Amino acid sequence: MSVMIETQNLGRHFGPIKAVDGISFQLSKGEVLGFLGPNGAGKSTTMKMLSCFLTPSFGSAKVGGYDVVTQSREVRSLLGYLPENAPLYGEMEVLDFLRFVGEVRGLASAKLQDALERVVGLTSLEAVVCQRIETLSKGFKRRVGLAQALIHDPEILILDEPTDGLDPNQKHEVRSLINSMARDKSIILSTHILEEVDAVCTRAIIIAEGKIVADDAPELLKRRSSAYGAVVLTFQKPPADNFAGVLSSLPGVREVREEQFAGHKTSYILLPQPGANLLPVVVRESEAQKWPLTDLRMETGQLDQVFRDLTQ
Ligand SMILES: Nc1ncnc2c1ncn2[C@@H]1O[C@H](COP(=O)(O)OP(=O)(O)O)[C@@H](O)[C@H]1O
Ligand SMILES: [Mg+2]
Repeated sequence: MSVMIETQNLGRHFGPIKAVDGISFQLSKGEVLGFLGPNGAGKSTTMKMLSCFLTPSFGSAKVGGYDVVTQSREVRSLLGYLPENAPLYGEMEVLDFLRFVGEVRGLASAKLQDALERVVGLTSLEAVVCQRIETLSKGFKRRVGLAQALIHDPEILILDEPTDGLDPNQKHEVRSLINSMARDKSIILSTHILEEVDAVCTRAIIIAEGKIVADDAPELLKRRSSAYGAVVLTFQKPPADNFAGVLSSLPGVREVREEQFAGHKTSYILLPQPGANLLPVVVRESEAQKWPLTDLRMETGQLDQVFRDLTQ
C-alpha cells in the first residue's frame, strides 16, 4: 500500500506548552484514521502542521511524498482540510463562497460547476446555497466547511471534528459520507466521540499530552478493555438465592459483579479469567438449568474504558 502521510518525531511547542511532542506514524491509501484524545491533547495542532497552517518546531511530515515545510504548495493542493472552527467568510453566500474556494483551487467553467454541484449534493446544502453563511446554524456551517474541503476532490482529507455541532441525523449523514469516500482516499479525522471511531475509522491513534499512547485498529484497542470477553446475564428475578455465588463457580469465571436496575431487573457481569471463553459455558449451563434469562450478551470491549485508562 502506498504511504500517503508520514510523520517522524513531529512536534510543536508554544513556549513552555508541549502541544505536540514527537509524533511518528504512517498512513496509507484507504485508511480512515481517527485521532482520539482529551481536549488539549494536541490533535488540532498536529492537523494544522499536516495541512501547512503551522510550522513544526521539530521533526518532519510528508504528505503525498511532499514535505509540509519546503513543499507546502504541493501539499496544500493534494489535501482538503476542515479546520476546527471553519473560518468561513460569514458575509458571503454559501454558493459564492464555495465558488470562490473552487477558483482558488484552480477550477473553472464546467469543471467548477460540476464540482459545486457535487459538493452541495454530498453535504446536503441545497436548501441554503443562497443564504449568507453567518445566518446558518452550526450544523450547516460545519457542512459548508466540509464542502469547501471536498471541492477539488482531494486524495487526502484532514477533518478536525467533522461532526461537531451536528444533530444525530446529520452526524449519521457525515459518517456515511466519510465511509463512502474511504476506499480511494486517505482520511484523518479527530473526534472525542468514541462511537464515531467504531462507525468510520479503520484505525485509531490515541493522543495524550502531545504523545501517541496507542495506535491500533478499534477492534484490537477494545480488547485491551478490562470488560473484553465478559458475559452479561440479565434476569427479571434471579433463579436462586446467592446466584452470584453459583455463577462464580463456573469454569473460567474470574469475578462476578451484580447490578440492580430500575424495574427490579438484575444483571450479572461475568469477567473471564485470561484466555477463557465464557459464552459457551454460560449458554450450556443456562440451557441445562433452564434459567429464566431476559437477556444474554457478550461484551466486545469498551473503547471508553481503554481511552480513560490510557489518557488519565
Ligand atoms: N496558538 C497557540 N498558542 C499557545 N498554545 C496553543 C496554541 N494552539 C494550541 N495551544 C495549546 O496546545 C495544546 C494542544 O492544543 P490542540 O492541538 O488544540 O488540542 P486538541 O485539538 O487535542 O484539543 C493545548 O494546551 C493548547 O492550549
Ligand atoms: Mg482540537
